[in-house]
Amino acid sequence: MKQMNIPWWKQAVIYQVYPRSFCDSNGDGIGDLPGILTKLDYLQELGIGAIWLSPVFCSPQDDNGYDISDYQDIDPIFGTLEDMDRLIAEAGKRGIRIILDLVLNHSSDEHRWFIEAKKSRDNPYHDYYIWRDGDGVTPPNELKSGFGGAAWEWVPELGQYYFHQFSVKQPDLNWDNPKLRAELYRMINWWADRGIGGFRLDVVDHLGKDPDHGIMKCAPTLHPYVREMSRAAFQRPGLVTVGEAWSADVEGAKLYSNPDGSELSMVFQFEHMKIDQIPGKEKWDMVPIDFVELKKIFTRWQKGLYGQGWNSLFWENHDLPRSVSRFADDGIYRIESAKMLAILLHGMQGTPYVYQGEELGMTNYDFRAEECRDIEILNMVRERRAQGYSEEWIRDAIRRKGRDNARTPMQWSTAPNAGFTTGEPWLVVNPNYREINAEDQIGRDDSVFACYRTLIRLRKELPVLTNGTYEPLLEENRQLFAYRRDDGEHRLLVVCNFFGEAVPDPLTEEEKGGRLLLSSYNAPGDDPAILRPYEARMLLF
Ligand code: GLC
Ligand code: CA
Repeated sequence: MKQMNIPWWKQAVIYQVYPRSFCDSNGDGIGDLPGILTKLDYLQELGIGAIWLSPVFCSPQDDNGYDISDYQDIDPIFGTLEDMDRLIAEAGKRGIRIILDLVLNHSSDEHRWFIEAKKSRDNPYHDYYIWRDGDGVTPPNELKSGFGGAAWEWVPELGQYYFHQFSVKQPDLNWDNPKLRAELYRMINWWADRGIGGFRLDVVDHLGKDPDHGIMKCAPTLHPYVREMSRAAFQRPGLVTVGEAWSADVEGAKLYSNPDGSELSMVFQFEHMKIDQIPGKEKWDMVPIDFVELKKIFTRWQKGLYGQGWNSLFWENHDLPRSVSRFADDGIYRIESAKMLAILLHGMQGTPYVYQGEELGMTNYDFRAEECRDIEILNMVRERRAQGYSEEWIRDAIRRKGRDNARTPMQWSTAPNAGFTTGEPWLVVNPNYREINAEDQIGRDDSVFACYRTLIRLRKELPVLTNGTYEPLLEENRQLFAYRRDDGEHRLLVVCNFFGEAVPDPLTEEEKGGRLLLSSYNAPGDDPAILRPYEARMLLF
């Protein structure tokens, strides 16, 4: 059945590439655009509709490119503008669009604007950033940076502090300045004219802020700014926009992703990702996962946005640990449990995202603190050591939550360094690449890769995945995650054993008559009334 008037991004799966760790073409140990070009056939085989490219703009790489010093050029470590044009064209030939990562909350302190802004208070660029007078001893207020320490940095030459929500090398841009906003919109249009298919908006909820009143995000100015940006730069046919919003609740998400198109195409929110964190504390301060609560969160979003917004579906990105290590089993049931997580998520409504290596079931790595490169980890280690935390506590925190878990090089093959580079990789390669790698998985129909490929295909084929209602089942069950989708034409049933013990399946009667589309196991078990460890079933009626 053909679907009319459904935007492509409601039926496509978006694949995130973290360029630094994807594929290195020239042996300097850092992935690059020519490297990505050599892997487009692989991505086409997987079936994805777009690549979300983490930032490749010029950057001193203080936060791996999330500190941009020139929004309209490519950093030489990643390649050139010509490489980017080639990537757009070659991906386009394979039906893949390129989504750029726009970091508009802050720039690098090495951006021309900031260098100018620092020269004097009456420099035309001064007001592109957020400054407050002071004495160099006491910052304007108590606000803390997301990466540790104060959010204010003293500039003695000016007798002023500048505001930075992330590292000192990431000064916040002053969105209250209309000139700055217009300049950013011009830049976005310049990229769209070049053939870019969409944009991911980094920390979009932080664009509206009021630091004098302690407000870092979601100030009343936020949605007016997003709407203005949308009018100025996003109203092009087929363009997709996704807003990263850690703070979004369902009501806020309805604004960001209003079906009238006045803001963004979809929201990328993290409520399910906060499930193992002590509320109000940092991500490192963990609590065991409350599984019933996790299900409730998904249900709230699935029902809440139905017909009123559009969500992203994800378990992983470059800021999160590997899902199979965090939510499932990266040991003996790695393959089954990685597939279970995939089936569970890809059966829902929204646009699914696959983070590089997730489609192989890549795992966390047992980092020593010295092996880490991420600024967030390094700052945490410094702070927690100073606060007297034990080395074991710190190492455990990194192992479970550190962002570098997602950033170890992509595991392509059994060649040295997993085939990622012929040189010295910028970050340690997970030694398990000998068992977990793309080369091994592409040709097999029992691989995690094959499961993702099937799910991506099903999303294009089955309208119920895009449009169906969502009905949670067995909501209080402490081991099973089950739900039903229904679009009036078809019914879909997803039943997942989220844990490592076999369990009776209370839905066996209901499953009769359904066609098994996909399972996390390759062959049926002896007793269909039992769900094996991490067994997932997707059935169509
Ligand atoms: C976003 C990015 C993260 C970055 C931060 C600051 O959360 O995903 O990687 O460190 O913004 O730009
Ligand atoms: Ca390189």
